[in-house]
Amino acid sequence: MQTLTTIQALRETLAQQRTAGQRIALVPTMGNLHAGHIHLVEQARHYADAVVCTIFVNPMQFGPNEDLDAYPRTLELDQEKLRAAQCDFLFLPSVAQMYPLGLAQHTVVSVPGLSSGYCGASRPGHFEGVATVVSKLFNMVQPHSALFGLKDYQQFKVIQKMVADLCQPIDVIGVPTQREPSGLALSSRNGYLSTEQKAKAVALIQTLQWASEALLQGASIDEVEAQAKQRLVVAEFKPDYFSVCDADSLEAPSPQTKALVILAAAWMGKTRLIDNLRFDR
Ligand code: PAF
Repeated sequence: MQTLTTIQALRETLAQQRTAGQRIALVPTMGNLHAGHIHLVEQARHYADAVVCTIFVNPMQFGPNEDLDAYPRTLELDQEKLRAAQCDFLFLPSVAQMYPLGLAQHTVVSVPGLSSGYCGASRPGHFEGVATVVSKLFNMVQPHSALFGLKDYQQFKVIQKMVADLCQPIDVIGVPTQREPSGLALSSRNGYLSTEQKAKAVALIQTLQWASEALLQGASIDEVEAQAKQRLVVAEFKPDYFSVCDADSLEAPSPQTKALVILAAAWMGKTRLIDNLRFDR
């Protein structure tokens, strides 16, 4: 695996792959790689000859009171995992390369509608930060395809819309959430949880499963959302949101909507976890 730290080196190297007719797939990450990220790298191989992973803890997508400084940075371990997964290129830009004039002076990519609710409401500016950095990485790498985990379902929809609206010639591929045997979705933020909290956190996916079954049996959305939040409280979560949505628009479903997703975010102690469940009725 070749590690590149400058935009120029990345461009020169990938130009050679492109000239050789190779297809390029991108897996953007913020590092602290777990089996979910490695699964994305392995899946990327099915779409491309050259797989590029990026590690950049993007300050633009963190709010002022969020965990930017505490966000786990485990570069050596990440590099070992990527080598074992046969990733071809690792791009590791610095904050100064990505935002040479600072965040306040930087152009922002904003995706209206899909960015506004749920995580967008709880984390103002978050999706602008994500859309901006992903656009920049797309422009630097110019991949044929890019892979994202569906645990961040709203992020996936925002990126899909950005690519469509800006006519970016990239296939955006959503890869199903990887889970622990308990059902807990893999996430870098699980590392903040104690063993006891991790055991309790399984209630998030269990509540999503309970809610989808209740809806399929005809329960009303309002009733299910209210009861689900109550279940989360009993499991010692502090719910942020638990919302049944149209899986495409992320708006409230109409009675005719078949494709649904339930989006959930909840605090276990000081750790905010998200998960979702996509199903048809
Ligand atoms: O999902 C993530 O890890 C980040 O939001 C992403 C897509 C790498 C952008 O910083």
